[in-house]
Amino acid sequence: MTGHHSSEVPQSQTEHAPEAQTPTADAHGSSEHGRDDRVFPHDSIAESSMKEKLGELLEQWPLSTPDLLDALPLFLRRQQMADLLSMDELYRMVLDVPGVIMEFGVRHGRHLAAFTAMRGFREPHNPFRRVVGFDTFTGFPDVADVDRVSRSAVAGRFALPTDYPEYLRRVVDAHAEGDALAHITDRTMIVEGDVRETVPRYLADNPHTVVALAYFDLDIYEPTVAALRAVRPYLTRGSVLAFDEIDHPKWPGENLAVREALGLDHAALRLLPGRPAPAYLVWDG
Ligand SMILES: C[S@@+](CC[C@H](N)C(=O)[O-])C[C@H]1O[C@@H](n2cnc3c(N)ncnc32)[C@H](O)[C@@H]1O
Repeated sequence: MTGHHSSEVPQSQTEHAPEAQTPTADAHGSSEHGRDDRVFPHDSIAESSMKEKLGELLEQWPLSTPDLLDALPLFLRRQQMADLLSMDELYRMVLDVPGVIMEFGVRHGRHLAAFTAMRGFREPHNPFRRVVGFDTFTGFPDVADVDRVSRSAVAGRFALPTDYPEYLRRVVDAHAEGDALAHITDRTMIVEGDVRETVPRYLADNPHTVVALAYFDLDIYEPTVAALRAVRPYLTRGSVLAFDEIDHPKWPGENLAVREALGLDHAALRLLPGRPAPAYLVWDG
């Protein structure tokens, strides 16, 4: 994949290429340095250096923590900014579509927090716009053969500390305290466990569900195909499905899942102008 440069790759995808940081694979990657040709390039040397410098500057923040919270965009790199803007563009597409926003593959929860904040300024008085995030928080439970393109595709990849879901819950609750509809509970939900079990269970427990926006970022085949099949009956014309890895050379499992569960030609896949991912489609039934 020489010729691709990570500045073209959104952060959520660059995070999927940790092997490029190992001593045997330089940031640009070259076969002479033991690079796996299937590995999508990670941050360029300049980008890694910028990240390191910003990290040091963040640690040296000279003012108070409340000041830091107000000034956080100081440290927002363009990939993170583009990602946030992408989430807002997707959110705006479903403002006239009823139902919930779901993310499959939450990891640290940045999209859950972003969608929660966006709800707070875009439709603070919509009591039914729930944001629901699904993750094991223990990483990939298993991987299928189709996923074994990347060395990252191993069971347990993306595992977080065991108390992370509880920490994320507290972060989300802190955000909710400032909501106009703070008295309505569970407007942002974190569903822990394997989506192959938790999504059907969530839908059985919430038979009134309409899925307005579904963001797929599980990376791998089996959970993605299972989540797609589970939510399909809950889509309406106008629902937006977004895919983080639809044409990512390292993660072919999502593409296979979409081909099997929906068909790539079922609706037009589109990009947000200027951004390589996510791709999205507007469900037309
Ligand atoms: C790339 S990360 C998600 C990144 C996140 N959307 C973001 O933008 O920061 C992929 C996540 O999918 C989760 N995952 C993979 N397979 C899963 C499964 N079967 N059930 C639940 N979560 C799963 C992993 O635990 C991991 O946190």
